[in-house]
Amino acid sequence: MKVVHTIEELRDQLRGQLRVSFVPTMGNLHKGHLSLMKLARQHGDPVVASIFVNRLQFGPNEDFDRYPRTLQSDIEKLERERDVYVLFAPNEREMYPEPQNYQVLPPADLGDILEGHFRPGFFTGVSTVVMKLFACVQPAVAVFGKKDYQQLMVVRNMCRQFQLPVEILAHETVRDTDGLALSSRNMYLGADERREAPFLYATLQKIQAQIKSGRFDQAGLEGQAAAALVERGWAPDYVSLRRQRDLNSPTAEEIQAGEPLVVLAAARIGGTRLIDNLEI
Ligand code: PAJ
Repeated sequence: MKVVHTIEELRDQLRGQLRVSFVPTMGNLHKGHLSLMKLARQHGDPVVASIFVNRLQFGPNEDFDRYPRTLQSDIEKLERERDVYVLFAPNEREMYPEPQNYQVLPPADLGDILEGHFRPGFFTGVSTVVMKLFACVQPAVAVFGKKDYQQLMVVRNMCRQFQLPVEILAHETVRDTDGLALSSRNMYLGADERREAPFLYATLQKIQAQIKSGRFDQAGLEGQAAAALVERGWAPDYVSLRRQRDLNSPTAEEIQAGEPLVVLAAARIGGTRLIDNLEI
C-alpha cells in the first residue's frame, strides 16, 4: 500500500486509472471501515482510502480536538487486509490551504433535520469535504456505510444533483456481537457505558417489532422509545421513524401500507453521543 499525504502524490499514483473505488474515512479504523474497503474492492480497481479528520464538520463544542488520530495502527490494519492500494492521508494545510469559503449547502429539508438539527452545519461540512475528496481522487465508485444513514442520502443526492460521475454504494451497518454498531466514538465509552450501549439498537429493534405486529402510531412509538432510554440514564436527541426515500415522516396510512421506513436515533450515554438506525 502506498501512503500519500499530498494531492500531487495522489494524482501521480492514480494517473490513467479509470475505475478507482474510494472509501473516505476519518480514521481510527474498525471492522466496519475495513468491510467497506472489501466492498470497494469488488466494484473497482484500484481502491483508494482516505483518512482525514475534517474540521468543517465539527461544531465548536464537539470532539474535533480529541477525535482519535491513530494513523500508524490504521496503516497496519490496512496493510494486513490488503484491499487498499493508495491511502490518502492529507494534513489540514493540504486540504484547506486557504479558508474553505466555497461550500456545498445541502437542502434544508434534508440537511437541517435529525443529525443536521442537532449538529448545525454538519452536513455542509460533510458535503464540502466529500466534494473536495471526490475532486482529488476522481473515483468511479465510492462506498459509504448505512451507519450514517442521513449522510449516505446527503452524498447520494449531492452526486445526483451535481451530475458527479460517481456511483455511490451503501454497506450495511457492521455491529459487535451484542448489537452495538461499531464506531470510532465507542472508545470514549467507560466499561459500564459499554455494557449499556447495545440498548440503543435494542430500542430500534423493539420499534421494528411493534410495527410488524401492527402498531402504526408513530408518536406513541417514538415517545415510548425515548422514555425507555431516559429511564436507563440516556439523554436522547431523537428517536424518529422516517420514510427511507426522503427521511420525511410517514403518515399512519403509509406505515400501514408498508412504506419502506427507517427508524433513526441519536442519544448520549455518559459523555458519548451514539447514533444508530434500522430499516423496516
Ligand atoms: P467515519 O465516521 O470515519 O466513517 C467512514 C465511513 O465508514 C462512513 O461511510 C461510515 O458510514 C462508515 N461506517 C462507520 N461505522 C460503520 C459501521 N459500523 N458499519 C458500516 N459502516 C460504517 O463518516 C465519516 O467518517 C465522515 O463524515 C466522512 C464521510 C469521511 C467525511 O469526513
